[in-house]
Amino acid sequence: MSRSTRKKLIEVALPLEAINKASAREKSLRHGHPSTLHLWWARRPLAAARAVIFAQMVDDPSSHPDLFPTEKKQAKERERLFKIIEDLVLWENTTNEEVLQRAREEIWQSWRRTCAENADHPQAKELFDRYKLPAFHDPFAGGGSIPLEAQRLGLETHASDLNPVAVLINKAMIEIPPKFAGRPPVNPESRAKIDHCRQWKGAQGLAEDVRYYGRWMRDEAERR
Ligand SMILES: C[S@@+](CC[C@H](N)C(=O)[O-])C[C@H]1O[C@@H](n2cnc3c(N)ncnc32)[C@H](O)[C@@H]1O
Repeated sequence: MSRSTRKKLIEVALPLEAINKASAREKSLRHGHPSTLHLWWARRPLAAARAVIFAQMVDDPSSHPDLFPTEKKQAKERERLFKIIEDLVLWENTTNEEVLQRAREEIWQSWRRTCAENADHPQAKELFDRYKLPAFHDPFAGGGSIPLEAQRLGLETHASDLNPVAVLINKAMIEIPPKFAGRPPVNPESRAKIDHCRQWKGAQGLAEDVRYYGRWMRDEAERR
């Protein structure tokens, strides 16, 4: 049985100027970001990865003539989606939960429509579960920009690569941090002054530990 799929935003239009500008700017800005730990060749800019994943997951307004019956209405709705992308690609918004949440909600809305339209599909329970977004897999993950951004947009993400260095980078970026999400640091210095009221959001606790043990390793290396 065939599946019903709507035309996605990426098939119609993208705010390329904003994506290009943010992608070019990102190269000079991301000091201290895990992506600079190891320079993977052909690494895609995070801004471009974030924009294209969003635009692949969200329906183009022309797919919904019931909601946007005229070209003018479709263009207006497209402008609204463009604005989300324009905010999404800014480096400053990489961890802006409000901006990310707006994008995730659009993805969910398109996904729920897809599920509703495919409710009669014989494998609907498995393939079109309105409570579970489709999983994402990048089989040529390299430096991991694309899986990292898919995860940020709320998708269950898998990455693989022929090269073990790429696998290690992806493990460090997308597999390990979620395991420690929301947890406090464990290094002795942070534990001694731990504030039990403080909330450790995302990978903040893990980042404290990486900083602490990174310093320790550097100092030991110098000493020895
Ligand atoms: C252009 S890079 C990917 C860059 C990545 N999108 C990023 O943003 O960093 C292509 C990747 O494909 C991997 N690759 C090439 N042939 C492969 C194969 N047969 N199976 C799995 N990975 C492969 C390479 O090791 C390389 O990491």
